[in-house]
Amino acid sequence: MALQLKTFDEYKTAYQRSVEDPEGFWADIASTFHWDKKWDKVLEWEFKTPDVKWFSGGQTNITYNCLDRHLATRGDQTAILFEPNDTEGEVRKLTYRELYHEVCRTANALKSMGVEKGDRVCFYMPMVPELAIGVLACARIGAVHSVVFAGFSASSLADRINDSACKVVICSDFNRRGAKNIPVKKVVDEALALGCPSIEKVLVHRNTGDPLNWNKEKDVWWHEALYDQATTCEPAVMDAEDMLFILYTSGSTGKPKGVVHTVGGYMVFAMYSFLNVFQYKEGEIYWCTADVGWITGHSYIVYGPLLAGATSLMFEGVPTYPDAGRFWQVCEKHKVNIFYTAPTAIRALMAAGDRWTEGYDLSSLRVLGTVGEPINAEAWHWYNEKIGKKKCPIVDTWWQTETGGILISPLAGLTPLKPTYATLPLPGVQPCLVDADGHELEGDGVEGMLCIKFPWPSIIRTTYGDHERCRQTYFSTFKNMYFTGDGARRDESGMYRIIGRVDDVINVSGHRIGTAEVENAINEHEAVVESAVVGYPHDIKGQGIYAYVITDRPVGDLVVFEKELRNTVTRIIGPIAKPDVIQVVTGLPKTRSGKIMRRILRKVAAGDTENLGDTSTLLNPEVVDEIKEGAKGVVA
Ligand code: WTA
Repeated sequence: MALQLKTFDEYKTAYQRSVEDPEGFWADIASTFHWDKKWDKVLEWEFKTPDVKWFSGGQTNITYNCLDRHLATRGDQTAILFEPNDTEGEVRKLTYRELYHEVCRTANALKSMGVEKGDRVCFYMPMVPELAIGVLACARIGAVHSVVFAGFSASSLADRINDSACKVVICSDFNRRGAKNIPVKKVVDEALALGCPSIEKVLVHRNTGDPLNWNKEKDVWWHEALYDQATTCEPAVMDAEDMLFILYTSGSTGKPKGVVHTVGGYMVFAMYSFLNVFQYKEGEIYWCTADVGWITGHSYIVYGPLLAGATSLMFEGVPTYPDAGRFWQVCEKHKVNIFYTAPTAIRALMAAGDRWTEGYDLSSLRVLGTVGEPINAEAWHWYNEKIGKKKCPIVDTWWQTETGGILISPLAGLTPLKPTYATLPLPGVQPCLVDADGHELEGDGVEGMLCIKFPWPSIIRTTYGDHERCRQTYFSTFKNMYFTGDGARRDESGMYRIIGRVDDVINVSGHRIGTAEVENAINEHEAVVESAVVGYPHDIKGQGIYAYVITDRPVGDLVVFEKELRNTVTRIIGPIAKPDVIQVVTGLPKTRSGKIMRRILRKVAAGDTENLGDTSTLLNPEVVDEIKEGAKGVVA
């Protein structure tokens, strides 16, 4: 099989083969990579514990496949094309050869700081090329990277550093975002002050050069650490199942968990999915607007495109700075061919008005993509008409941090499109829908919980330091299946439409937020006794955060109190988890066993107070009317 499918018929044939002969199917794809030693066994698996191994016995290094392998054929081609936050700022182009040498120098610097194979290295950085270089440098020497999105608070950063006992944290001095200049290193200092005993060194990349506090014991400048390092570095020989990275993500309970991906399977799936979904062609400019702090940036800014030898555009800024035409200005400036963004960005730009799309030459665009949350029909059509000029297929890509890569999506130009549908699974992916009792729903025109019943190469291997949690969260709800936490519908032609989370996770602007985490943060406020957080439909963000709060004292000025609560959440988690709506209540609807009836709270938050269903079995049915009444007075 050729790595890149070219027609819908080829897709169908490949799909069938992937089900009938999964090992043969994946062995063919894996054979297109460089391996130091070929695998002994393509796949061993069981979903009970779970225990999944791909390409075991195989040895390779993912950076050899991202860099060394391309030197002879495309050493002078741009690998990373950097567009800065400021329109007047300096565009940087790193060729494959330059990127290779920078990664090697950085890898050598990390080694000389004592970083060894298997050590964990945390990143807390803006969207600058050094972030990609640093991540690849870790992979080069077999260190495990754990990138934390630079919008998280010091306390979230400290939790993540400590959960995986990172040895080094790599950051920038400051982060330019729109009109702001965010002190990134200061947040790292605050995190370390909270207690991060495993951290030996802080490697600081000079981004803006503004003055900052310096700790002579721990802090090391990136440029000084790299100064006289050799420009080559032997890639560490990694087993296919060695850990490549950890990425923390929120779930319905407890603290965020460290999703673990391993070298071989992740590598194979990242390139395979990139080439097929976007139908990348040699020489094209590809731009994914995500942040490397999320899985989309890992798989589709860094690894997927570089494995495929693509030119990957990295953008430091935000969609609305200096104005809402920024994305389209960048598309014109760099003649972008493939553009991949989130529905929330599309909705925000659509709301800003069509005039911001006008006057830019978008004729280079060939493929458009979306990711992170369901796309509503209105946004889909706007994207198709105003940006794609009805000439570009839109790939609505469904996947998760845990899946490592795109699982359900059209293949651009091959799969028939249906607005708001992620359409069909990639060959090698076997989704199914199940009802609450775990029975698989057969046939089409059904709706249920989305599960995957067979492993794919980049499936989550474990949650760092707590394998039982991985089993419980993903493999215990339904027997012998990976449970996604999403609900979906399958139409008459077998196409999937993702409806949204069926657990207590809310998706705010494409960011996953656990309601329990937000509640814990709110409860830190001294006046709060208890709280319940739910999502509600939000025009731009997809979902907004609605918090019901019980206090043990009169709160006085409501505006001041709400501000304090939002500050508390910002301090503990980060600004992305700030509640949009806060309603002070005297009680929460509870079942006789003391469980909060979230169903009722969700309906009230959505403004749907007519059909609350049977509330007579509640312990305290009288609070429902009070909550309904109170909801009328709150504003977003
Ligand atoms: C949601 C992001 C609808 C879904 C790659 C999933 C989507 C969660 C889509 C994972 C899509 C992602 N349509 N919903 N195309 N893509 N989601 O881990 O609820 O940040 O479970 O990974 O985002 O979010 P995560």
